[in-house]
Amino acid sequence: MRAVSASTLLARLVTLTGVVALDNGLAVTPQLGWNTWNSFACSLNETVILNAAQRIVDLGFKDLGYEYIVLDDCWSAGRNSSGYLIANATKFPSGIDGLASKIHALGLKVGIYSSAGTLTCARYSGSLGYEEKDAELWASWEIDYLKYDNCYNQGEEGTPKLSYDRYNAMGQALNKTGRPILYSMCNWGSDGPWNFASTIANSWRTSGDLLNTWDRDDANCPCAELDGLDCKTPGFRCSVLNVLNKAVYYVSKAFPGAWNDLDMLQVGNGGLSDQESIAHFSLWAAFKSPLLMTNVMTKIDAQTLSILQNPAVLAISQDPMGSSVSRIWRHPVADVDANGYGEIQLFSGNLMGGDQVVVLLNGGTQAREMNATLEDIFWESGVAGTASQVQQAWDVYDVWANRMDNETANAIINGTAVPAGSRFNATARGGAPRVYSQPPVVGDRWLMGSKVASVQPRGTVTARVAAHGVALLRLRAQSSKKNEL
Ligand code: GLA
Repeated sequence: MRAVSASTLLARLVTLTGVVALDNGLAVTPQLGWNTWNSFACSLNETVILNAAQRIVDLGFKDLGYEYIVLDDCWSAGRNSSGYLIANATKFPSGIDGLASKIHALGLKVGIYSSAGTLTCARYSGSLGYEEKDAELWASWEIDYLKYDNCYNQGEEGTPKLSYDRYNAMGQALNKTGRPILYSMCNWGSDGPWNFASTIANSWRTSGDLLNTWDRDDANCPCAELDGLDCKTPGFRCSVLNVLNKAVYYVSKAFPGAWNDLDMLQVGNGGLSDQESIAHFSLWAAFKSPLLMTNVMTKIDAQTLSILQNPAVLAISQDPMGSSVSRIWRHPVADVDANGYGEIQLFSGNLMGGDQVVVLLNGGTQAREMNATLEDIFWESGVAGTASQVQQAWDVYDVWANRMDNETANAIINGTAVPAGSRFNATARGGAPRVYSQPPVVGDRWLMGSKVASVQPRGTVTARVAAHGVALLRLRAQSSKKNEL
């Protein structure tokens, strides 16, 4: 198959969709990386960041595509007399530029944080009014990524224009530096960034901060009703289901180079069960959210490693079509948990090459068999069974079927086995190359998962789904020849 470069692909998709993304050429697929905030908050420093970066290389995350190491809030120590930000010298003895060159030497990229306000959320110096100076400084430090928050914005929001202008000021300043810097907006969905941010930013947060909980309601992020429309405020302590049930309304606004950001991953941070972590990771991948890990890399356990390193899930996240799943249906169920939640949902979306990704979400407390008709799965391509795909026979692949076992994962963590990601680094270790830029070939169990069933025309896909879990399935038409080995 002929290789297609990322930029050619983006150009083609832009022509197809008629929309124009920010033209810095970045985030053609959702960005993958690691961020300091959830585990280290204001205790970030050079040592913990370099330790994490080194683990990201040694454990094989880098080979799987995780690329950005992002410093969140609390890195600075005010401004100097010329108005330039100063790094905290105790936390960063080599300076941020020194740290950046060490991270670059590992083959990774570096992100930094500020706020489109007078202060950051943790009350450090913000960038409002200092956009050009700050962008210039970061470019001189060879920064590759900016996460730009919304605290202390001086009331300059409340209409899309106010938010756009404030965030565009930084976008322009970044462009002016001439350095490609991925621009990750973090205004928690205020004023509907999915409607105005795609020409100025590579991604935008869709709601408040993701708390390390599955569905617990929180006074700071209210959403007690099953009807997601009641989740009115962005909030800042939001559960996985709360964030998900807000994000469903604007999935179609994202496209290559411009993504809905459902917030950083909580996998490995202790608050979610194994099944909940699988569901969270699967859904964020299927929604084409950026995937920023936040776990303590030096203490990673086997289950966390085998979730974050499932290449078949990453292949869905990084699918070159860049199209999110949509929610097809949502139903309440009787088996509610102590938080009063219980619901099931079906999501479905297109992948490059005619494949389809299907997510069956079981938010009940009982494992259950779930069904999805081809008519529902292809609803977006034509309602009520009118889509041509409904007339075809499909093979069903379970994307989680080849999850690494704990023994292998522990051996990788202890340094006694070759990291999983090395399979995808052909030059270094002679394995098969990682090819997210093309649809996975039939039989590539690392990227496809395993075939578990076939479905006849007008048939129904069935899966057993764990409580608070998902079935993540990849469907391929039996008539599809073009991807076969
Ligand atoms: C906000 C953001 C978080 C994090 C903190 C840092 O709450 O939404 O992701 O960056 O600020 O203070």
